[in-house]
Amino acid sequence: MQAWHHHPPGGTEKLKIVKADIPEIDDDEVLVKVYAAGLIWMELYWQLYEKEDGTYKTPIPGEDYSGVIVKVGSKVPEGLKVGTEVMVFVTKAFSSKHSTDGGMAEYAKAHFSKMIPKPQNLSHVEAASVPLAALTAWQGLFDHAKLKAGQTLLVAGGTGPTAIWAIQMGKMVGARVIATAASEQSFKLLKSLGVNQVINYKEAKLESVLASENVDVVFNAVGDEVTKQALKVVSEDGIIINIVDTTVGDLSKESVRDSFREPFFRKEDGRTVVFFIVDMNVQQLTEIGNLLNEGKLKAVIGAVYDFTDVVNAFKQGETGHAHGKIVVKGPGL
Ligand SMILES: NC(=O)c1ccc[n+]([C@@H]2O[C@H](COP(=O)([O-])OP(=O)(O)OC[C@H]3O[C@@H](n4cnc5c(N)ncnc54)[C@H](OP(=O)(O)O)[C@@H]3O)[C@@H](O)[C@H]2O)c1
Repeated sequence: MQAWHHHPPGGTEKLKIVKADIPEIDDDEVLVKVYAAGLIWMELYWQLYEKEDGTYKTPIPGEDYSGVIVKVGSKVPEGLKVGTEVMVFVTKAFSSKHSTDGGMAEYAKAHFSKMIPKPQNLSHVEAASVPLAALTAWQGLFDHAKLKAGQTLLVAGGTGPTAIWAIQMGKMVGARVIATAASEQSFKLLKSLGVNQVINYKEAKLESVLASENVDVVFNAVGDEVTKQALKVVSEDGIIINIVDTTVGDLSKESVRDSFREPFFRKEDGRTVVFFIVDMNVQQLTEIGNLLNEGKLKAVIGAVYDFTDVVNAFKQGETGHAHGKIVVKGPGL
């Protein structure tokens, strides 16, 4: 089969398209013919693949993908059969025998617990854009922040793939949503998502615009500088949800990363700050899939690349100005 391999350490110059063997599956695994895979541009810089002897594995990029099942192991539950279209999230962050390779290949295998049937109303490209980003927003807003109707939600980095879900989910539950962005294209997108107030992060600091605002929840998809500013605008009983946070330790080390299987809550200036790493959750992804089928949420695609053009897809991600998820089509689509 055709597959992209990354040869870390290094970035896009270390991506190679190769002929590889179709993966063999275990009893509890499924083989999927991949039609589309989501792109996470930072994954080329993760240290997940360094072995104890200092050499590196050569992973297939992509954590989430969509396709059709072509083979099932004997212990796979009945709902997943040959011919079932699925969307998959393999969660590479937490090591297991099942999670080293992703979806940028003709075929990919995954444990049955890492997938759900594809929502019917979604194309494969749309489905591939959903799991990682939508689950991150869902777990941040609902598991950790307990966001409710009537609250004010501030989403920093508003037009990135993850933040777009946070905005939609905030609007869906009846929160007032404020978002930051810095380009005309971003402002237009935020308006189309129904954002109540937009802040141009290049022109104003959060505290200068939101001094009198009662912000209950901050969803921070940008990083430490936003945490500092957010501490000045979040209410005393509010919460800052960080999905990027360099203060929590070196996440390239497995022992550090593994400690984030549970979210890490701390107090800063009397405010609650939480950092967490997303994990697959079948029930939550099914609920998100139902909301997508009903049209209550929508997949926002920033760009779609052909399978042979993976290097340029990563290069676009690396600009840090994606407006929605970047998706790579499988060789068979
Ligand atoms: N903890 C977890 O489990 C988890 C899960 C998913 C993602 N992440 C992390 O979350 C971060 C976001 O990832 P992503 O893929 O959703 O988005 P991304 O592609 O990294 O971000 C792109 C967006 O960020 C905006 N942006 C850039 N700098 C900004 C700033 N200083 N202030 C406000 N907005 C800014 C850009 O808007 P403009 O074009 O308008 O500038 C653009 O729309 C990444 O660092 C990723 O590693 C963590």
